[in-house]
Amino acid sequence: MKKITDFSRSREFSRAINDVIPGGAHTYSKGDDQFPVNAPAAITHGKGARVWDLDGNEYIDCSMGLTSVSIGHGYEPVAKAVADAAYQGTNFQRPAALELEAARKFLDTVQSGDMVKFAKNGSTVTTAAVKLARAYTGRNRVAIAKEHPFFSYDDWFIAATACDTGIPVQAKTLTAGFSYDNLSSVEELFSDKNHDIACLIMEPVKFSPPKEGFLEGVRELCSEHGVVFILDEMISGFKWALGGAQQYLDIKPDLATWGKGIANGFSACALTGRAEIMELGGIRRTGADKVFLISTTHGAETTGLAAMVATIDAFKTHGMIESNWQRGEKLRQRLDQIIVKHQLESSLTVTGYPCLLAVICRNASGQVDDTFRTLLMQEMIARGVLFQGLLYPTWSHQRAELDHIERAFDESCAVYRKAIDANSCSNLLVGPPAKPVFRKKI
Ligand SMILES: Cc1ncc(COP(=O)(O)O)c(C=O)c1O
Repeated sequence: MKKITDFSRSREFSRAINDVIPGGAHTYSKGDDQFPVNAPAAITHGKGARVWDLDGNEYIDCSMGLTSVSIGHGYEPVAKAVADAAYQGTNFQRPAALELEAARKFLDTVQSGDMVKFAKNGSTVTTAAVKLARAYTGRNRVAIAKEHPFFSYDDWFIAATACDTGIPVQAKTLTAGFSYDNLSSVEELFSDKNHDIACLIMEPVKFSPPKEGFLEGVRELCSEHGVVFILDEMISGFKWALGGAQQYLDIKPDLATWGKGIANGFSACALTGRAEIMELGGIRRTGADKVFLISTTHGAETTGLAAMVATIDAFKTHGMIESNWQRGEKLRQRLDQIIVKHQLESSLTVTGYPCLLAVICRNASGQVDDTFRTLLMQEMIARGVLFQGLLYPTWSHQRAELDHIERAFDESCAVYRKAIDANSCSNLLVGPPAKPVFRKKI
């Protein structure tokens, strides 16, 4: 395959953007330290599953805007709905009429809870879920699944990470950890009479299926101990099923949070839940304490809600969930064959569900290794595949795009093989390896 070698404008851009935007991006996972040196620093535009960088290089996109672009870049029915909404006005002094239609449609689609509150960011809705749970239970602490990397950029979650600078030390005491797939770790937390835990939050599933009985066990323990059970469907919503992984795995939370793919990359997120809890954020219980749930100027901007409605329509009309699963399954089979062809079974593993795959990279000793992962990224990028470890098959990843990914993976595996044989990436990787997002020191 023809290799991409020109990143000159990207290099200039990296220098310039870090002078004016701390971190050089608006989520840390898009920053320079998450990519090899030979990578596009910025994207000028995208269409379907393809994006273009500042130097005019074209790529197949594997992560689609942190998996938020669930159909494709610039997908016309959604873009048109957004443009129409923009021309009709985006924000009014009273709710937009669209808010009721959007709320009914979303609740009917995800079948999770009786009420919904919209917002622009995932962190806003997870934090709102925590606030509601605290108001409902009168307790303060939050139990989080330790293995799940991100729930919110707010203090209640960031206090529990290595990046706790700038957060009051007291915040740390308000978060407790349990282990996903380990029911005893939840039992242990709740067995303390003074646990003060208002809610338990986790993603329903990551890359491996939950152990039998784990989710049901957590559900029961939460009910038994009066703890609000929150499922964060930010990633899994509109991937495992339209109703998220909770629908796929048949598990009912008290509250659920949604974002990313629900509006094909536009900014629309949602908190759903049982009326008994959600209504605490309402204004109909005259005389009761008011819970200041989500109250933001841009939360229900018509463009985001119009994008969400059009995204739901497109998913339903074209059966996108089923087709994404089929594409993902075929892709996984092909990548597995390529791994076998290069005898890399102990170094590269394609994991996950077909609707969201990930490649785990190990070194010659079998340890998960960021340097080897960066080498694979570098080689895929050089062959026109913008890859960061995830493979998210969407409606826009048609045969041509999947073929391209497979060919790039085949050639990249040949380079990876050399690194494994040499037990080092040093003559192959240009620049430093990508670093973890959550680390104490820069
Ligand atoms: C599982 C999960 N929850 C919450 C969030 C926060 O969403 P946002 O970045 O929109 O604030 C993310 C974002 O990556 C996420 O992956």
